[in-house]
Amino acid sequence: MGLSKIGQTLSAMEILDLVRTDLERVESVISLESIASVDAVTTISRYLQSGGGKRLRPILVLLSSKLAGNTSDGSIRMAAVVEMIHTATLVHDDVIDIAKTRRGRPSTNAIWGNHTCVLAGDWLYMQAFQVALRERNFRVLDLLISLTQMMVEGELIQLERIGKVDVSEADYMELVDRKTASLFSACARLGAMMGGADEAMETRLGEFAWNLGIAFQLVDDVLDFTSREAVLGKPVGSDLREGKVTLPLIYALESASSEERQLVEYVLKDGNYERAPFSKILKMMEHNRAFARAKERAESFTDKARAMIAEFPDSPYQRALSALTELITERDH
Ligand code: IPE
Ligand code: IPE
Ligand code: MG
Ligand code: MG
Repeated sequence: MGLSKIGQTLSAMEILDLVRTDLERVESVISLESIASVDAVTTISRYLQSGGGKRLRPILVLLSSKLAGNTSDGSIRMAAVVEMIHTATLVHDDVIDIAKTRRGRPSTNAIWGNHTCVLAGDWLYMQAFQVALRERNFRVLDLLISLTQMMVEGELIQLERIGKVDVSEADYMELVDRKTASLFSACARLGAMMGGADEAMETRLGEFAWNLGIAFQLVDDVLDFTSREAVLGKPVGSDLREGKVTLPLIYALESASSEERQLVEYVLKDGNYERAPFSKILKMMEHNRAFARAKERAESFTDKARAMIAEFPDSPYQRALSALTELITERDH
């Protein structure tokens, strides 16, 4: 597998190999902890777990733990906790966004309806906290509660902005910080904590993952336009259709003509691509260098993350975290 090949970039497979056994344990914890006394919740949890997410957040917890020292029962538990929180946010997010597809399958709200999914999401959040509580560690709870509030506030801010065309880059970045980067950062911090890191190391790993999280969401927002549904597992063009102006659009609008701007306003107003076809929007974004600029911006964050992780001593885990930054910028789903 070449872990001794100092300085070489690891592949996705090699990263996974480093945490495979631990990840299997994480999956068992999630299965075990997703059994509710009401069948609907158990069924929804199973459906979500088998849906094939990338498990990036648990991987981040485990690699951070290993970098700091080693993985313990606490690391496995925390990796399960962050995936459960992530899953709960997705269940609620799809209700809010009226999304029909997630991970290449019908979204939970499309199958079980909004009412059941709001409650199932609540249950999942609480179960995640229940598992976290077993650590008997107030810092862990403090971090997880602040994080969840931060994410919910992010969704609320996003809701207030739906349909608005004048979104600044700073507004957008605040949202990305709340929605995505804060969870990535928490994953690394929790992993570090469980691995026995001191506070300075925990902070550095948290900052590394924060930069990674920002890049991840920026790439997600580019892929929302440029990918294909079969690859992405969710429909393309969703953000704009849902009334969300993300970074590629913010950049495009900076240099767009008034006719081009009008196209975007049609979609925001109508919630569909009937007056302004998606292909036309894509063309105008291409022509205004929207994707190239957004990708460059994402890379500035992965560069920062890579520089931060390079300060740690060389080890397979340090290299895996560095390779993760590469994978995130180059991913297609
Ligand atoms: C989706 O996250 C939500 C965003 C922050 C864009 P992922 O793309 O990590 O979702 P899964 O878990 O792999 O499905
Ligand atoms: C989801 O944001 C991030 C959450 C914290 C729920 P998005 O709405 O951009 O994610 P997708 O595109 O539905 O996966
Ligand atoms: Mg969504
Ligand atoms: Mg999105």
